Amino acid sequence: MKNILFVASECVPFIKTGGLADVVGSLPKCFDKKYFDCRVVIPKYLCMKHEFVEKMEYVDNFYIDMDNKSQYVGIFKMEYEGVIFYFVDNEYFFSGERPYGDILWDIEKFIFFSRAALSILPVVNFRPHIVHCHDWQTGLIPVYLKERFHEGEFYRDMKSVMTIHNLKFQGSWDVKTIKAYSGLPDYFFTPDKLEAFKDANMLKGGLVYADAITTVSETYAEEIKTKFYGEHLEGLLKARSKDLRGIVNGIDYDDYNPETDKYIDFKYNAKDYRKEKLKNKKALQQQLGLEVNEKKMMIGIVSRLTDQKGFDLIAYIMDELCQMDLQVVVLGTGEERYENMFRHFDWKYNNKVSANIYYSEELSHKIYASCDAFLMPSLFEPCGLSQLMALRYGTVPIVRETGGLKDTVEPYNEYESTGTGFSFVNYNAHEMLNTIRYAFDVYVNRRREWNKIIDRAMAADFSWNVSARKYQEMYDWLLGY
Ligand code: ADP
Ligand code: GLC
Repeated sequence: MKNILFVASECVPFIKTGGLADVVGSLPKCFDKKYFDCRVVIPKYLCMKHEFVEKMEYVDNFYIDMDNKSQYVGIFKMEYEGVIFYFVDNEYFFSGERPYGDILWDIEKFIFFSRAALSILPVVNFRPHIVHCHDWQTGLIPVYLKERFHEGEFYRDMKSVMTIHNLKFQGSWDVKTIKAYSGLPDYFFTPDKLEAFKDANMLKGGLVYADAITTVSETYAEEIKTKFYGEHLEGLLKARSKDLRGIVNGIDYDDYNPETDKYIDFKYNAKDYRKEKLKNKKALQQQLGLEVNEKKMMIGIVSRLTDQKGFDLIAYIMDELCQMDLQVVVLGTGEERYENMFRHFDWKYNNKVSANIYYSEELSHKIYASCDAFLMPSLFEPCGLSQLMALRYGTVPIVRETGGLKDTVEPYNEYESTGTGFSFVNYNAHEMLNTIRYAFDVYVNRRREWNKIIDRAMAADFSWNVSARKYQEMYDWLLGY
């Protein structure tokens, strides 16, 4: 039996702000239980869903020293869908309304969490062969495993994997501060280790010290070795390219299943979607105060409203888009200028545009199930899960060919009758608009072709089956099997 420990800052169903939570929550249960015991540790945030907090079982507590202060580490535990989860409790760090906020505070918080996550292991009596770290919040763990934790028998030879879900965020601050919080000696703060451009960079630490590096699609694994996508770490990633691989994300095919989805009014499948999906569309039009008309093409967006996702392109052509005979439904929160942009267009084109500026799992499922097309013109996209959810619900993705979007959406080819969606190459608003127009034309004038795209989209398999196996192969390789 090989023991794997996932360490991350968010995880469904307990706490989620983006795709990271989906991956950390859905992948561990897909490993072969005969060979892998994969457990997960995350912070015990006060803002977690209460229904779960009530079910957590208290295990133990102790104190660790951090920056000359003694910090409480409480351990809670819960088994959920066959996987054991540990929760690190500390009200000083984890009582915010959201998991993240001010970056300096987050850095202190996640340095504490990383140390605590390793420190609880002897107490809960779980000795991982591999600690699998996710994103910058856990970047110091591979460093610690080569440093202080290396000394004790318990941690010796423990391997680490660093997975990049988003290279943009690196946990970078001045050396003095990170040195104080982390307790790491001077030795580590040089440009070949944690230092990057005079600051200390937590993700870089993980990328230097992890035994293997992965990211969430093959294309992104290549892209991040270039200047445009490399976020100033391309040199390091190139140097480590032998240990870097891209494994595309999957989604939970039980949670995202149009046949059983508890959030949608009319369940459907690949055979009856022509009738049943339309019923969901009409119900959503009604609910959101849009013109109720099953013939109107409805384009959905569910996203964090940030530059990453290409919203400046959308802002640029939104007026033109709204001249077309279609509807746009948005669900998202994020940068104020994008929130206000959508509010503005909702006001201006009230029966065509619906801006829902909040977070709602229920509405997100309804959008995936009801829309005809799903728009995701990202500037960069490590993998992207929303387009996978859209495919699963027969909602045709319109995407920019970058990162995981390129790897998961096959562009429609009208001559060969292939493809599961529409895509464009350049980061250009009118190239995007032309692609939307093309999709609109197929939707309105060639409905049989459109339906065949849906058939292929719904037949595509982005469950974890294949990718979980690739992670297992990597674990085996790391452990010398
Ligand atoms: P990222 O992790 O970069 O935000 P992904 O596409 O990988 O992008 O994952 C986003 C996840 O967050 C999806 O599960 C999507 O449905 C969900 N999501 C994003 N915004 C919202 C929102 N406002 N309400 C509900 N779910 C959301
Ligand atoms: C990040 C990326 C997204 C990816 C998700 C899960 O949030 O932005 O593309 O799907 O992580 O790996």
